[in-house]
Amino acid sequence: MSKVIVTGGVGFIGSHLSRALLLAGHRVVIIDDFSDAPYPRASKEENQRDLEKEFGEKVSVQRISVTDVEAMRPHFEGAETVFHLAGLAGVRPSFLDPARYARVNVEGTANVFELADACKATKLLFASSSSVYGNSTPLPASEASPCISPESPYAASKRGAELVTLALARRAVGLACVGLRFFTVYGPKQRPEMAISSFTRAALAGEEVTLFGDGSMRRDFTHVDDIVRGILAIHAHAKPGFDVFNLGSGAPVDLTTMISGIENATGKTLRYKVAPVPLGDVDATFADVSKAKELAGWAPQMKLEDGLKTVADWLRARS
Ligand SMILES: NC(=O)c1ccc[n+]([C@@H]2O[C@H](COP(=O)([O-])OP(=O)(O)OC[C@H]3O[C@@H](n4cnc5c(N)ncnc54)[C@H](O)[C@@H]3O)[C@@H](O)[C@H]2O)c1
Repeated sequence: MSKVIVTGGVGFIGSHLSRALLLAGHRVVIIDDFSDAPYPRASKEENQRDLEKEFGEKVSVQRISVTDVEAMRPHFEGAETVFHLAGLAGVRPSFLDPARYARVNVEGTANVFELADACKATKLLFASSSSVYGNSTPLPASEASPCISPESPYAASKRGAELVTLALARRAVGLACVGLRFFTVYGPKQRPEMAISSFTRAALAGEEVTLFGDGSMRRDFTHVDDIVRGILAIHAHAKPGFDVFNLGSGAPVDLTTMISGIENATGKTLRYKVAPVPLGDVDATFADVSKAKELAGWAPQMKLEDGLKTVADWLRARS
C-alpha cells in the first residue's frame, strides 16, 4: 500500500480519483484549500465527509493552499506519486481575477513540482486542459500541436503550468512528469456551474437557463469515470521525463445535441434563453486520443446518453 498525494482531492475530479485510489488500497493524502472559487466550498466539505466516512484513516485531508510550500512540505514525505489536480478552473471567471489564476495554477504547480522532486516521488501527474489548444489548433487536437494562442487567462495558466513543468523536468532525473489535458469533464458531483450539471438541475426543477451562442458550439464531453480510468492508465505507463496526454471522449457534440440528451435523461423539457458567446469560450473542442490509446492502452467507454443519465440520477437522488 503506497502513499499518494492528491491535490484538489475534494474537488469534482479529485474526489472521484481519490476514491479510486483508496479502493485500490493506497493511502491518500489530500491537499486542498477548499477554495471558494469557481463555486462554493460546501460541495468540497461534502466530498471530504463522504471520503472519510467510507475510508476512515486511510484518507487524510489537509486544508492547505498549493501556494504555501512550507505548509505542504511535511505531508509529501514518503509519497510515491503526486496527482496534482488543485487549481482554479473556469474560463469565464479567469478574466475577473487573472492574477489569482496565474498564482494558483502556475506558481502552485511549480511548488508541487518542487515538493514531488524533493520527496523523491517517482511520478507527478498534473491537470492541464483542452483549453491550451485555443481556437487555432486543427481538430481533432493532437498533443504535438504548438498551443501558442490561449483564448483566456485560464488557458494561459494551464499552458504556463505545462511549460514550467517541462522546464523543471530537465533537472529532475528519474521523475515522470505528465500533463493531463482533460476535455470538458462531467458526471456525478460535477462542478455546479458547468453546463451539464446546471442544465440538468434546471431541467429537473423546471427552471430557465442561459445558452451561450446558437447551440452550434461543440464540446468533447468526457465522463469522469473515463477520466479516472485514463489517469490511472497513464500513471501505470508514465516514464521518467516530461509528456502530455489528451483525455477526451474523441466524440464532440454540439450544445443542441447536449440539451436533447439532457431532456432524454431527465424526461423534462429544458427552457432556455440565448445570450452571446462570452469572451474566452472556444468554438469547439475535439480530442485526438490516439496517443493515450497506443501508449497507455486507454480508450473512453461512456456514451454521452448513458453518462447524462448518471448525472440526472445523482441529482434526483439528492433532491
Ligand atoms: N472539469 C473539467 O472539465 C476540467 C477540464 C480541464 C481541466 N480541468 C482541471 O482539472 C482540475 C480539477 O478540475 P475540477 O473540475 O475537479 O475542478 P474543482 O474546482 O472541483 O477542483 C479543483 C480543486 O482544487 C482546489 N483548489 C483551488 N485552489 C487551490 C489552492 N490554491 N490550493 C489547494 N487547492 C486548491 C479546489 O478547492 C478544488 O477542490 C483543475 O485543475 C481544472 O483546471 C478540469
